[in-house]
Amino acid sequence: MRTYRLGKTGPEVSAIGLGCMGMSGMYGPSDRAESIATIHAALDAGVNLLDTGDFYGMGHNEMLIGEALKGRRREDAILSVKFGALRDPASGWNGIDARPAAVKNFLAYTLQRLGVDYIDIYRPARLDPSVPIEDTVGAIADMVKAGYVRHIGLSEVGADTIRRAAAVAPIVDLQIEYSLISRGIEEKILPATRELGISITAYGVLSRGLISGHWQKGQVAAGDFRTHSPRFQEGNIEQNLALVEKLREIAQAKSVSVAQIAIAWVAAKGEDIVPIIGARRRDRLTEALGSRAVDLSAEDFAAIERAVPKDAAAGGRYPEQMLKHMDSEK
Ligand SMILES: NC(=O)c1ccc[n+]([C@@H]2O[C@H](COP(=O)([O-])OP(=O)(O)OC[C@H]3O[C@@H](n4cnc5c(N)ncnc54)[C@H](OP(=O)(O)O)[C@@H]3O)[C@@H](O)[C@H]2O)c1
Repeated sequence: MRTYRLGKTGPEVSAIGLGCMGMSGMYGPSDRAESIATIHAALDAGVNLLDTGDFYGMGHNEMLIGEALKGRRREDAILSVKFGALRDPASGWNGIDARPAAVKNFLAYTLQRLGVDYIDIYRPARLDPSVPIEDTVGAIADMVKAGYVRHIGLSEVGADTIRRAAAVAPIVDLQIEYSLISRGIEEKILPATRELGISITAYGVLSRGLISGHWQKGQVAAGDFRTHSPRFQEGNIEQNLALVEKLREIAQAKSVSVAQIAIAWVAAKGEDIVPIIGARRRDRLTEALGSRAVDLSAEDFAAIERAVPKDAAAGGRYPEQMLKHMDSEK
C-alpha cells in the first residue's frame, strides 16, 4: 500500500488508516474475535495506521489493540492515541482534562494497556478550555524528549489553536471529521494546516456509516452514538439517505460501491489527507480498501459534488450541545 509522511517530520503511514473506536461499543455491540481479525487483516494488507482513544470503552479499545499486536513487530503499527476525555462507570462523559499532569498520567496507563513502550502519535481528543494548548502540547513534548511518544497530533481544534500548538512543537497531523457531507474544514482549518505543513487524518469519512450505502432507517441499537446524532434522527435521515441514493447512481455507473466513492473522494483531496475508516469487520475493511482502485476523473468529481452539494446534509455532525464546545466549530 502507498504510504504518506504525516506533516513535515511525522511517520510514514498507509494511504488508509483503521479506526478502532467501533470495536469498543461506540456503535453498539461488536464481536471481539472479528475485531481482532479485522486489525490483523488490516496489518496484513499494509495498513499500519491504527487509531484509538483511551476513553473508547474506558481502556477496552487499547487492550483489544494490545492483544491484536501480540506477536507482531512493534514497528509494523503506527499507533495514534487520543486522551483527555473523562468517563464515568455508567459510560457517561464528564468533560476534558488536558493538564500537563493529566497528560503524563493518561500516557502511563495507555502504555500499559497497549503493552508498548512508546506511542507513535499522541493527541488531546479535544481542547481543554481551562488549559492553554501550549501547556498541553508542552507536556506531550516532554514525553517525546523522554522517549515515550514519537510525534504530536491534535484533534478537532480550530485554526488559531493549531497555530498556537505548532509554535510550541512540531505537529504532524490534525484528526478531524471530513467527508462529502462534513466539509467545514475547507474554509479556515485546511488552509491553516496546509500553510503549516500539518497533515489531516480524516475521520467520519462515511459519516459514521450514514453515507456507506449500507445504512437503513431505524437501524440504531441502544448505546450507539448514532441514537443521539442529529443526522440519523427522523426528519433528517430521509433527506440524508436520499443523498446516498444519488451517490449510488454514480457508484453503480462506475461498478464500485457507495462507500468506495465516499472514501475515494476524501483521499483524492490531497496527499496531506489520510482517511481513517471505522471498519470493525473484515468484509467492511475489504470494501474500504477497494476504494484505492477507484479513479475519479474531473467529471466524476463534478457529478459527485452535484449529487451531494456542500451543506446538503440535514442535521449537524454532533448534537448542538457538543458542537457548542468544539474548538473546531468556532
Ligand atoms: N478525533 C475525533 O474526534 C474522532 C471522533 C470519532 C472517531 N474518530 C476515529 O476515527 C475512526 C473512524 O471514524 P468513524 O468510525 O466514526 O467513521 P466512519 O468510518 O465514517 O464510519 C464507520 C461506520 O461505517 C460503517 N461502514 C459501512 N460500510 C463500511 C465500509 N465499507 N468500511 C468501513 N466502515 C463501513 C461501519 O460499519 P459497521 O457498523 O458495519 O462496522 C461503522 O459503523 C474511529 O474509529 C476513531 O478511531 C475520531
